[in-house]
This record gives sequence, C-alpha cells and structure tokens, in this order.
Amino acid sequence: MRISVIGCGYLGAVHAACMAELGHEVVGIDVDESKIENLSAGRAPFFEPGLGDLLSPDNARLRFTTDIAAAEHARVHFIAVGTPQVAGGVAADLTYVNAAVEALLPHIGPGHLVVGKSTVPVGTAARLAELVAPTGASLAWNPEFLREGFAVSDTLSPDRLVYGVDNRDDRAAEVLDEIYKRPLEAGTPRIVTDYATAELVKVSANAFLATKISFINAMAEIAEVTGADVTTLADAIGYDARIGRRFLNAGVGFGGGCLPKDIRAFQARAEELGVGHSLAFLADVDDVNLRRRQRVVDLVTENLGGDLTGKAVTVLGLAFKPESDDVRDSPALDVAQRLADAGAIVRATDPEAIETARRIRPHLDYVESIQEAISGADAVVVVTEWHQFRELDPAEVAGWARGRVVVDGRNCLDASDWRSAGWTYAGLGRP
Ligand code: UDX
Repeated sequence: MRISVIGCGYLGAVHAACMAELGHEVVGIDVDESKIENLSAGRAPFFEPGLGDLLSPDNARLRFTTDIAAAEHARVHFIAVGTPQVAGGVAADLTYVNAAVEALLPHIGPGHLVVGKSTVPVGTAARLAELVAPTGASLAWNPEFLREGFAVSDTLSPDRLVYGVDNRDDRAAEVLDEIYKRPLEAGTPRIVTDYATAELVKVSANAFLATKISFINAMAEIAEVTGADVTTLADAIGYDARIGRRFLNAGVGFGGGCLPKDIRAFQARAEELGVGHSLAFLADVDDVNLRRRQRVVDLVTENLGGDLTGKAVTVLGLAFKPESDDVRDSPALDVAQRLADAGAIVRATDPEAIETARRIRPHLDYVESIQEAISGADAVVVVTEWHQFRELDPAEVAGWARGRVVVDGRNCLDASDWRSAGWTYAGLGRP
C-alpha cells in the first residue's frame, strides 16, 4: 500500500516508520525542515526506544519530505499533526489539522482515503469528511493509543484497532484492514464504528486513565491523614479483576503531551455541546493531579525545618515518565520549578530529558551525573521513576549528600532500605 503521513512529530514519525515496517511504501511529510532532515538521515528527533532502528536511511520503503505534492503518489493519507491547547485556553487547537487537510486537497482524488489519527474534539471527522468529499476521496478516523516509551510496539501490536467510517463507505474498512493486515492476523481486535464513536474512544480512554490515577492519588490524600498505606491499598483493590492494578500507582501525578490536555479539551467540548455537567468530575481529576505536585514540595519543606530558603535540593527526574525525554506538562519539571520558587537551590538531573527541560526552563541548574547532582544536597527528591534512580544504593548516596532527607514522589524506592541507611524517607500516601 502506498501511504503518506502528514505531520512527523511524535505520532507521525512513529506511525510512518511502523507502516514501512509493516511492508508499506511510506512518505512522511512535515513543514519543519530540520525535523525532515533528521528523519531522512535516520535520526529520531526525540528519544523513543526502537524507533532509531526503523528509521535507517537505507530503508527504501520510507522517505521524508517537506513537499506536500509527494502525497500524490500515495492512496492513503494519515493525518498525524498535533492538536495542542489553544493559546490562553483549554480547548483543542485544530489549526494544524485543518491546515493539513487543506494542503492535501489539491493532491487527492477518487480512490484516495484520508485517515485521521490526531486526537480531536468529537465532531471534527464529520466536518473534515465534508471538506474532503468534493475531491472524490473519502475519510476515516483511526485513533492512536500509543504510549511514549512503547510507541513502536504499541503501533505494531496495538491492543485494538478502531475505525470510524462513513456508513455509506464500505471500502474504507477494507483499505484499513489491508494496511493493518499483520496485527489483524496476529489477533488484534478491530472495531468498525461511526466517526463520533471513534473520536470519543480516544478521549474517553484517556479520561478514564487520568481518572484512575487521580482516584488513587485522592486515596493517597486520605491515607496521609489516617496513617494508611496507599501502595498496599492499590495492591489490595487491584486484585479485583474489575478494578485491575495497572494505572493505580500513586505519586506526583500524570503529565505529558496527552492526558492533561486531552481531559481539558474534552471538558471544553462537552461545554460546547451543552453537556458540560457530564464531565464536571474531570475538573476534580485535574485538581487532585496538580495538588500532588505541591504535596511533594510541602513534604520537602516540612522535612527541612519549614523553610526552603538557601536549602540545596536535588531533583531526580525531569521527564513526565521514564523512557522518555518529553517534559510537556511534566510534574517533575513543575516540582523543580516550585522548589526553586520557594527559595531552594535546585539541581536537577535526568537520563534523557535535560536538553528538553533546558529549552523551557533555561534558568534551572542541570547536571548529567547523578552523583554530582546529589553531592552536598540537603534533600533528594525522586519525581520520575527511572531505573537509574530506583537502583541507587542509599548507603552510597548518603556519602554524597549533606542531609538525609529523601522524598519519593513516585513511591518507587524501598522505604525500609533507605531508612536503614539513616535516611528520613517520605513517600506519597505512605506512613
Ligand atoms: C497516554 C495513554 O496511555 C496513551 O494510550 C495515549 O495514546 C496517550 O496518552 P502517555 O502520555 O505516553 O500515554 O503516558 P502514560 O504511560 O499513559 O502515562 C501518563 C502519565 O501518567 C505519566 O506522567 C505517568 O507517570 C502517570 N502515571 C501512570 C501515574 O502517575 N500513575 C500510574 O499508575 C500510571
């Protein structure tokens, strides 16, 4: 199948590389020249395990260009551009989606299929289908559920495939079946539905995941005033198969380029549709999530005598989660900033995210080496659960630091090990 992928950011670059891996002939198109230059040279513009191997410049099935006319040679066109929050608001900004489809129109015709992958407010696909119709091409919506850090395997072996199609269009599902032949043969469930349901599957899945995390973080708040242990609580309720243990890790909360913005945009869309009350609870989900960041700062403050002024605090982690260099809406970076705002002398480190963090918070102090970051610290704060931090030897770390306070914002350290080595350990929702 000849495929074009419009937008070569996180989603698009991974999708293009994986479609070539599935045997298709793919052209990735983006307006950003440096992105295209990197991808053409086989370099991933961001850290994603396994992606570099798929991007080899020798791969004859995969090429990248800034020229939208290259889409003419393809028959299926994936729209994979970003939908950030609008400036100064919370709704999704559809500028890039609209521009991508407009740019594509002169290059498509009968027999072409435009496939939306971007996360969009419900109703977008139906509107874009009208835009595409005069060309004779048709449109399908095929949301993406990939997780950063697992993007390649999530794309090659997804949990499910969802196709939103026009009910008069029998061909769209057949074309998508051809594209996803390999995962379908491997048994991936496939759901063919209407546009609105397909769009909603994506945002409701993210809303559910965010709610699950904030639920356990709310339980952490209750645990903190009752002396209970939220980790044991999560294990115990997680054994109920209806609940499940995954996404019940209490800590500094969720961040990244998807969950925070998607729950806000979903609320904004529900308001527009006159059913804002249906998603009012997502405001609480967001509030609980943001409160946990301040809780980490408060724990550091309490354990350093009530005032952070002039205190040396090491922040371990900047990425919004391990195996990623992404700091978009990162709780870790926000905690580092809040500590600095409260007067602490902050030094931060992360195995992958220092460069990306420096771009948005250039004034914070970043060091590559964990030992150098911790040396002379009054307190150590873990906010991204990289294995490099989880595996630290508390006795060795005690030899580097000045103080003996460790705040575990991801509940990822062994509290008894750290206490045995003389540390005052504080986790979230743990006694
Ligand atoms: C998410 C969805 O999982 C994915 O399906 C969707 O396509 C995009 O958004 P991603 O943003 O890559 O993927 O990260 P995810 O692994 O879901 O983690 C999101 C955030 O939740 C991270 O900050 C993580 O640290 C946090 N989290 C996750 C918790 O705080 N506790 C948990 O138990 C799980």
